[in-house]
Amino acid sequence: MERHLFGIRGFAIDTPEFGALRGRRDAAIVVENGRIVAVGNFAEVRRSPRAAGVRWLEHGNVAIFPGLIDCHTHLPQYAVVARGQSGLLPWLRENIFPVEREFTGPKARVEAPQFFQQLARHGTTTAMVYAAIYEDSCNVGFEAARDSGLRIILGKMMMDLGSYGQLQPKKILSVSLLESERLCRRWHGADEGRLEYAFSPRFAVTCSEKLMRSAAELAGQCGAYLQTHLAENREEIEKVHNLYMPARDYTDVYEKAGLLTPKTVLGHCIHLSDREINAIAASKSAIAHCPTSNLFLGSGLMKLDRCRAAGIAIGLGSDVAAGPELNMWQVMRAAVDVQTARTFHDPTVPALRLSEAFYLATTGGAEALGKRAAIGTLDVGKEADLTLVNVDALLPYSDPREHLTGLSKEDVLALCVYRGGPHATAETFVRGRSVYRAASQPKT
Ligand code: GUN
Ligand code: FE
Repeated sequence: MERHLFGIRGFAIDTPEFGALRGRRDAAIVVENGRIVAVGNFAEVRRSPRAAGVRWLEHGNVAIFPGLIDCHTHLPQYAVVARGQSGLLPWLRENIFPVEREFTGPKARVEAPQFFQQLARHGTTTAMVYAAIYEDSCNVGFEAARDSGLRIILGKMMMDLGSYGQLQPKKILSVSLLESERLCRRWHGADEGRLEYAFSPRFAVTCSEKLMRSAAELAGQCGAYLQTHLAENREEIEKVHNLYMPARDYTDVYEKAGLLTPKTVLGHCIHLSDREINAIAASKSAIAHCPTSNLFLGSGLMKLDRCRAAGIAIGLGSDVAAGPELNMWQVMRAAVDVQTARTFHDPTVPALRLSEAFYLATTGGAEALGKRAAIGTLDVGKEADLTLVNVDALLPYSDPREHLTGLSKEDVLALCVYRGGPHATAETFVRGRSVYRAASQPKT
C-alpha cells in the first residue's frame, strides 16, 4: 500500500472531556495513511524521527479542529432552508413534504453532490442524514456521499401514515421495509465503514406500530443504526398521545416498538418527563440536540443538563431545513443561547460554556454515534478527520499583529463559534483525505 504521509502546522484545539478545552499553540499534526500518528510542538515534532519524509502543508495561520459532527440533518430539505413561519406540523405539511415529494430522479442527482460538498465546506466530516422516502433518493445520496469522501450515516425516510408518495396505502409498509433492507444490505459498512445505514422511521405521527417494530428488528439483524424524532413539539406530542392511547408517554411508544437501542439517535427530545429521560438513558440511545431548529420552529428549550445528568450521550444536529444552516459553529452558538435562555427563568440551570458546546459538536457527537474510539479528538491513533480554520478571516480587522499568536485557545474557539463558517474553512479532511479546500489556499 502506498504510504500517504503529511503534516499540518497550526493552533490545535480539541476537547477530550466535557468542559476541558485543550489547546496547543504552534502544534504539528502528522497523518499517515489516514490516521494521526504524531501530535506535539511543531519544532519538536519536526526534529523527531516521525518527521522523516513528511510533506508539510502550507496553510498560514490556521486553527486545527477535529472534524465537526452533525448528528441529524435532512438531505432533501436543504433547498428550502429558512422557509416558513409556523410550528412543526404545519411547516412539515406546507414547506417540507412538497419538497421531499420531488426529491427523486434528476433533482436528487443534482442536489445530493452539492449537499455533501457544502457539509465539507462547513467543516463537517461526519453526518447522520435522512433521505426522502424513495429508494433512488437514498441510492443517489449514498453515491454522492461515497464520492464526497465524507463519513456518512444515511437512511431512506420511512412513513406509512400520511405519506407523500404515490404508492397504494396497502403496499406502503411492505415496500418501505423491503427497500430499506435492500439499501442497508447494499451500503451499510461500504468503503471500509465510512458509509453506514440508518433505518429511519420519521416519527410516531407518520409511522404505524408495525413499521416501527419491523424497522427496529431489521436494524438489529443488520447491526445498522436507527434514527427518529422524539418530543419536539407540543402539538406533535398531543397527536402521538391520541394515536397511541395505551402508551404511558411518547417515549413509551418507541420503547414498546423496540426502537430504543444503543444504535438509536433520537432527534430533539425537548419535552420529556423524568421517566422518559431515565428510560432513554437505560436504553443507551443517544440524543441529537438541534437548537437552531428548535428556535426556528419555536419548538422549545431542551433540558440539556437533565439529559446529561442522566448519562445520555448527546451530539448536535443542524436539522436542516428546520435549522436554517449546515454551519455547526452556528449550532454550537444556538446551543449556548438556548441554555442561557433557560437561566432567565430558572437561575439554577447551568449555563453551557463554549467549550462544552464544542464538545457536543465533536467528542459528544462521536460518542452519540458510537465512534469515540475512532474520531472526535486530535489524539494519536484517531482517524484524521480534521477541519482547518483560517482565523484571520474571523477577525474584525486584518491587522497582522492580531494574528493567532495573540489569541488564547478560548479566544480562537469564541471567534469560531460566534463568527465561524464556510468563509473561514481552509481545508477539511476525512481519514487524512482532503474533502474540501478553499480556493485561496496555497497549493501543496
Ligand atoms: N419531525 C418529523 N419529521 C421532521 C422533519 O423533517 N424535521 C423536523 N425538524 N422534525 C420532524
Ligand atoms: Fe429532523
